[in-house]
Amino acid sequence: MRKIGFGIIGAGIWGETHAKIYASHHLSELIAVCDTVEEKARSLALKYGAKNYYTDFEKMLENSEIQAVAITTPDFAHREPFIAALKAGKHVIVEKPLATTNEDLQAMKEAYDNSDCRVMVDFHARFSPPFAIAKESIQKGELGKVISMYYRLNDIIYVPTQMLSWTSKSSVLWFLGSHTIDTLRFLIDSEVQRVYSVSRSEVLIKKNIPVADIYQSILEFENGTIATIENNWIVPNTNPHWNDIKLNILGSKGMINMDLTNNQAFERYLESKSDHPDILVMPTIHGKPMGFAHESIRDFIERLADGREFLATFEDGYRVSKVILALMDSAEERLPKEVKYD
Ligand SMILES: NC(=O)c1ccc[n+]([C@@H]2O[C@H](COP(=O)([O-])OP(=O)(O)OC[C@H]3O[C@@H](n4cnc5c(N)ncnc54)[C@H](O)[C@@H]3O)[C@@H](O)[C@H]2O)c1
Repeated sequence: MRKIGFGIIGAGIWGETHAKIYASHHLSELIAVCDTVEEKARSLALKYGAKNYYTDFEKMLENSEIQAVAITTPDFAHREPFIAALKAGKHVIVEKPLATTNEDLQAMKEAYDNSDCRVMVDFHARFSPPFAIAKESIQKGELGKVISMYYRLNDIIYVPTQMLSWTSKSSVLWFLGSHTIDTLRFLIDSEVQRVYSVSRSEVLIKKNIPVADIYQSILEFENGTIATIENNWIVPNTNPHWNDIKLNILGSKGMINMDLTNNQAFERYLESKSDHPDILVMPTIHGKPMGFAHESIRDFIERLADGREFLATFEDGYRVSKVILALMDSAEERLPKEVKYD
């Protein structure tokens, strides 16, 4: 079978995650990397054997060896490369969140509706074994009617203060809340109808990063399920893992509890530190990138090759962004909000 030629737009941290997979999968080939910072494009291309690098994505999209592109620019910068890629006839995997403003969402929807190309939004939590097993259990009816869910997904403070250079142009709701909301929709196959969110800004604002530290939110789903979610990115760096994740699903006949951070499946105690090494998200095993963060990208390649529907579609990305816009309005106005999907 002919390999699918890939281009990457955004040669940062997550661009490298994508590069690893396209360069190593038997159905794909990494053709080119683009970044506005030439050195980043050049060194990622060199590291993963891409023949070309660019600083202008329009130029890269003219390359006929590329059939699909990954958009791994910062949260607020997905719109332009996304629309340009579809116009150039390339299939797209775009990082979450799909977009962070209503204007971007509408422009991207118009481009998508007018294109024959295929789009996946990289909600990789759908590939996480615990979440996939929970979904199966819910689908089989083992929990009865899902009455409520509690999901906390937080990051250590290293992420907004040191890892990301564009924290103040995003929010923890875009960066982590997008996964949270998509996972809950995925688990119960229902859409969020109404939200209420409260935020606090104590820590990051004092570090001259003008974004909220935390959002605590209540979601009401169309099927009657309620969910409480927490997203913060001020967890102390001494947390044993970069995430802090807890999920409880309460049904009329059963319950599921997950502690994916301090799960005690693997504890490591060394002279200078103790930790819980990553065994689920993106470990490297015998030299191969494993874990669900890599699996979602592999799945994009494989479904693109054989024509099966993607597990996370444009519509999923669009709906999740609409929920977050309602949550942010709610937190600002201190009022419950209906989610508007038009
Ligand atoms: N699926 C996940 O769980 C996951 C994990 C981490 C990051 N992400 C997402 O991936 C995206 C990238 O995050 P990151 O941490 O790699 O950011 P990053 O800042 O490390 O990388 C972004 C890169 O995009 C480049 N860029 C910006 N505008 C560009 C343009 N117009 N053309 C070409 N290059 C451009 C920047 O120079 C930078 O090198 C974000 O949307 C983020 O939320 C997803």
